[in-house]
Order: sequence, then structure tokens, then C-alpha cells
Amino acid sequence: MAVPLAGLGHQVTVLDPSPDALAALQRRAAESAVEHLVRAVQGDTTTLTDVIEPRSVDLVCCHGVLEYVEDPAVALAAVAAVLRPGGLVSLLVAQRSAVVIARALAGHFAQAAHALDDPDGRWGAQDPLPRRYDQSTLVDQVTAAGLQVQQVHGVRLFSDLVPETLLDGKEARTALLELERRAGRHREQLGLAALATQLHLVARRADQV
Ligand SMILES: C[S@@+](CC[C@H](N)C(=O)[O-])C[C@H]1O[C@@H](n2cnc3c(N)ncnc32)[C@H](O)[C@@H]1O
Repeated sequence: MAVPLAGLGHQVTVLDPSPDALAALQRRAAESAVEHLVRAVQGDTTTLTDVIEPRSVDLVCCHGVLEYVEDPAVALAAVAAVLRPGGLVSLLVAQRSAVVIARALAGHFAQAAHALDDPDGRWGAQDPLPRRYDQSTLVDQVTAAGLQVQQVHGVRLFSDLVPETLLDGKEARTALLELERRAGRHREQLGLAALATQLHLVARRADQV
């Protein structure tokens, strides 16, 4: 996200504990000639306020990170603290329901059953992801951090389920992308977002944080 955002003229700070991830970022920023707009900081979301001025940030993109942090409640409180009043956070997290379906369709029924009940939404000890979310848990955690949920929608309903052999050619990929866009935002009653691989939530910092 950082390089495209910098390409639009925004000043972007990227925080990551991994030196490799930061090195890849700096390489990509240089390739796109936006290195003057991108600051790479080694750190952890839970200690965000050590490196970012509180109440200073317009938008935090926290995509594919809450699954890994030690304590998501502490991380979300830190995200809220660095946002300026009225600032936005965009969260993208893995959703439990999708892994239940994916494991079942792959014939791993015991793993699907495990993921149904596991407190962290994992399919077993070998699952590489530390944590997955249900929508209600995510909304509750975000709200507890003093953030006001603006919208939630599903991302990647079909892409991880469709066999690669059926995606032969640009036309099929474009059609699938368009279907994903429409299905992820389709009216709530149909419940399609509840089955997506990821949940995307946008929240605003309430003034009293
Ligand atoms: C799945 S990647 C997502 C990367 C990027 N946000 C994206 O959307 O492409 C997860 C990233 O989170 C970083 N990460 C792991 N633990 C973290 C933590 N406690 N605080 C901040 N970042 C962390 C990892 O180093 C890795 O770069």
C-alpha cells in the first residue's frame, strides 16, 4: 500500500519489525521514485506511540497485521492514539469462516471442525496463521479502542476457492475481480461477506480517545 499511496503524493510512514520487509519497501519506493515520501521505521504496532507522534496521523492502514500481534487490544489502542481526531483506520484481517470452508472443500474435515471452535480460528497446531477473526469480535475490539466503525465488507470471496486452471487468461481474471468487487459489497442480507477470506473494516477515531 505504501508505494501507491506515496505515488498519490501522501507522506507515508511504514512500521514493521522485519528489516527484510523494510528493505523491500525501500527498494520498491526507489523504483517508483517516491523514496522522499516514504519513511521506514522498525517497530511493533503495540508500541506505535514510541515512534509516531500521538494524534498526528490521518490514516492508518493495518492490513494483515492484527493476526500476528501479541495483543490486538493493545495494538488497536496504539493505532487509535496516533490518529488525529476524525482520522481513519483501515483494517484487513483473516476471517475464520473462510478457512472452515476452504479446509472442508479440500477434504480436511477434522481441520475444518477444529477451526470452527478454536478461540483463535486456527485449523490446528500446524496452521501458519496465529489468529483469525469473526466479524463481531473485530467490531467489538475496534469499538473498545474508542474507534467508531464506519463500514465492514468482505474481501476475496471466491479467489482462494477457484482452481487456478479456471483462471486461464486476462478475461477470466477480470471477470472474477469484478464479481469479487460486487459480491464483497452486496447487500448485507445475502451474507456473502461473512464467507470472505478477509474482512475489511474502516473506523474513525472518536474525539474522546
Ligand atoms: C501478511 S504481512 C502484511 C504486509 C502488508 N501490510 C500488506 O498488506 O501487504 C504481515 C506483516 O506484518 C508484520 N508484523 C508482524 N508482527 C508485527 C507487529 N507486531 N507489528 C507490526 N507489524 C508486524 C510482518 O513483518 C509482515 O511484514
